[in-house]
Amino acid sequence: MHQAYQISSYAQYQEARQKSVENPELFWSEIASHFQWKRKWDTVLDWNFQEPSVKWFEGGKLNISENCLDRHLETRGNEPALLWEANDPKEPGRVLSYNELHFKVCQFAHVLHANGVRKGDRVCIYIGMVPELAIALLACARIGAIHSVIFGGFSARAIADRLEDASATFIITADGAFRGAKDFPLKAIIDDALEANNTVQKVIVLERTKTPVSMIAGRDVWWEDEISKVVAAGNPDFPALEMDSEDPLFILYTSGSTGKPKGVVHSTAGYMIWANYTFLNVFQYKAGQVHFCTADIGWITGHSYIVYGPLSAGACSLMFEGIPTWPDAGRFWEICEKHSVNILYTAPTAIRSLMAFDTKPLEGKNLSSLQVLGSVGEPINEEAWHWYSREVGKDLCPLVDTWWQTETGGIMISNLAGITPSRPAWATLPLPGVQVCVVNEQGKELEGEASGNLCIKFPWPGMLRSTWGDHARCRQTYFSAYPDLYFTGDGCIRDAEGNYRITGRVDDVLNVSGHRIGTAELENAINAHSGVVESAVVGYPHDIKGQGIYAYVIYNGNHSDEEDRVRKDISMTVSKLIGAIARPDKIQFVPGLPKTRSGKIMRRILRKIAEGYTSNLGDTSTLLDPTLVDVLKEGAL
Ligand code: WT7
Repeated sequence: MHQAYQISSYAQYQEARQKSVENPELFWSEIASHFQWKRKWDTVLDWNFQEPSVKWFEGGKLNISENCLDRHLETRGNEPALLWEANDPKEPGRVLSYNELHFKVCQFAHVLHANGVRKGDRVCIYIGMVPELAIALLACARIGAIHSVIFGGFSARAIADRLEDASATFIITADGAFRGAKDFPLKAIIDDALEANNTVQKVIVLERTKTPVSMIAGRDVWWEDEISKVVAAGNPDFPALEMDSEDPLFILYTSGSTGKPKGVVHSTAGYMIWANYTFLNVFQYKAGQVHFCTADIGWITGHSYIVYGPLSAGACSLMFEGIPTWPDAGRFWEICEKHSVNILYTAPTAIRSLMAFDTKPLEGKNLSSLQVLGSVGEPINEEAWHWYSREVGKDLCPLVDTWWQTETGGIMISNLAGITPSRPAWATLPLPGVQVCVVNEQGKELEGEASGNLCIKFPWPGMLRSTWGDHARCRQTYFSAYPDLYFTGDGCIRDAEGNYRITGRVDDVLNVSGHRIGTAELENAINAHSGVVESAVVGYPHDIKGQGIYAYVIYNGNHSDEEDRVRKDISMTVSKLIGAIARPDKIQFVPGLPKTRSGKIMRRILRKIAEGYTSNLGDTSTLLDPTLVDVLKEGAL
């Protein structure tokens, strides 16, 4: 395993960082040479950020599923690739060796092909955390189809929007999914999503929960039946298709500060190299270790650190179907003990929710296999950092605080476990190959110790290439705020040594339990309720979720005397249009919203009130109606 490009000392880190800036092409071509290519690239990098146009390893041909599977078969074919732990601890788990995973991916690639899926087709995947999800991803990649996974918490309407945006022609789903004490009727939700759809041709349905489902002739087929046909045909191999380096590998929808979610497009070669390089270096993975990333594959973290990063590195990746608190709050620790987990990668919101149960669930659990802890998704507060390090890591494990985004494909700023120092609540240093800068509001680059907006000034292989179907939106969202820079949307602080602390979004994007939710999208959903006149949504500090959703609503419907009933109806409307994950935590009914004379909502004031401030709200003199502020304060929840 110990790859030539796995940094193993602080001196090597510094060397790599210098080389990556001085000669990025040499730096990246050396790393790329460790992968399996069907044809070597002609040029390492061609780019401009105005367009933007970013091309890595052009002329190169490869297939990522071959790099994740075939190339390991000779050396570690019988070693575990995927360990799977079911939602219910009483249900036996599963182990898939590299040989078995390869076999199953080839089988399912045949299923896709037999059902008409071809290179470049968009395949939507809406399925729970079962090994078949990873198999589906890799089989899509093997035949060159573009996968688009949708998290199980999104509603039929949200799915319908994404299907339409991507003009998806295929869906892979299951009868249902288990999560904690609940099961979710995935296929029924897909049926609703397909009501007004006219692009989807086939739906492949996996049996998981045995929930009754409708199976529409000509459209819906069972995963298991289709596999039987491949078995009957003698299980032929499925040679991986030759893809161009820049062919899209997947689309993943994410929310921004305006409009509908956008489909972030990732490339084949650049993404693969980024997922692999960051996995090996940040977690310092060593052969034989068990890596447990607790994220859902519906998010980028699962794509990069359950599937593509670990498998491309020949690692053993543990996948868990359930949630940290069911059947009890000891579930994670039980899994760590049972599978002798070495690397645990989870989210601050999970840590905080477990902290609330104190250390009792940890008692009697043997966590001595743990060597590295990781955090991702939002700023980790110092209290949670220390609890995680002390109670879980027994003060023996380096803790990596990894900052990155759906758009970056993989980790960008983080300490490297045991190689570069960790510091509570600081993501610390950029990885070699990441050229970060801090700018002020005017776009001026700040030197040395600074506080401002976080930007990136040079391409990295894993960066997004476009937003699906709307390249102008990609330019507008990420490359127009500051010329020649990629703007992250995050604010940060940098100390004199060049360490970064991420302070959170500076745009109108909320981060609720590590889930990204756009306020504009949320307001649209709230406003869709027949009695709502107008609304404004802001985030407020929440002990477990990091940020909670606070909605100010002008309501003019019936039943206005039954406020709680109306709140529930508004929540239900949001659930229908986006999904349960976007339901507001607090809804305050207001007679008006604080607007400037030009009609702009002053969110700064709304944020302060939601945070519980009653004074020091800042300048309110530009408000159209300054007296409104007192009314809002009085009604604050
Ligand atoms: C946003 C990206 C990264 C994969 C999961 C979320 C915030 C993420 C950290 C961190 C502080 C973080 C940022 C970023 N964020 N990791 N370690 N420290 N903030 O991906 O949904 O694309 O969200 O999450 O605000 O912009 P995402």
